[in-house]
Amino acid sequence: MHSSTLRRWIDSRRERDIEDSIRTIIDISNPAQPTDAERKAILHRCDRFNFALYRFAPPYTADRCALDRFAHALGLVRRDFSLDADAFGIVSVRNTPAAGAPAGEMIPFTDRALNWHSDGYYHPCERPIRSIAMHCERPAASGGENGFIDPDRLFIALHDHDPSLVEALMHPQAMSVPAVFDEKGRCLRPCRSGPVFSFSTPSSADSRPRLSMRYTSRTRSIRWRDTPSIAEARIALRKTIDTLARDALMIRFEAGEGIICNNILHCRSAFIDEAASPRTLLRIRSFDAVGGAPDS
Ligand SMILES: [Fe+2]
Repeated sequence: MHSSTLRRWIDSRRERDIEDSIRTIIDISNPAQPTDAERKAILHRCDRFNFALYRFAPPYTADRCALDRFAHALGLVRRDFSLDADAFGIVSVRNTPAAGAPAGEMIPFTDRALNWHSDGYYHPCERPIRSIAMHCERPAASGGENGFIDPDRLFIALHDHDPSLVEALMHPQAMSVPAVFDEKGRCLRPCRSGPVFSFSTPSSADSRPRLSMRYTSRTRSIRWRDTPSIAEARIALRKTIDTLARDALMIRFEAGEGIICNNILHCRSAFIDEAASPRTLLRIRSFDAVGGAPDS
């Protein structure tokens, strides 16, 4: 991206920091048919902060069909149908470790804490997960808080510190996820390399470039480009995440509450379930940004 375009992007994103509380939850009366005002409120907040919190009114609290329609109305059309997804592309994230998945990718399906990451960092870079919806069907008996950091803030903080840090992290081979093989040596997934930060090309002259972040805090099964600039940038990135985490949005969703976001950085604390009613988070991943902007 040209430096003057980047400067304009940074200035425009900085302005939004004087917005109202990021904790506002938008009430949705009928998620299967959100009103114009509800839809606009969500899109406005996603445009500002890359996420919006919402709450479904009863009796839609755990209605998967309504969740599907709601996500569709907000532009999450092209879904990531992973093996564990239902017909809507909805995955039930609960403490049920799946057999066969690479170890690090099983952690979401346990009751353990999940460190900062964006979703699908192991996907092909030409087909990134641009948005996610996480909807609480049932909270844990205790714990299970989610934390969220807008990557735009992270990028700007790093750029303010030293522009060469973000430059290093935008290298197309900055972070690689090694290939995964089964016990017979067959390749289940090839090595995926890509940048940590990248900008999509706007779909029209009046839309702005959109920042994507591809990241995991994991240190195992991740390879970083072996250069001094990446080594320095990795440390600075981790420190900046830790700094922003101090005042990050932390929320323990109640049943019917959730977040829709442009695949922002998130984490989860460990939790304890009641045996008969496990914490269940319904997750939709989409290749479209919120609002359905067909960026490339
Ligand atoms: Fe995640």
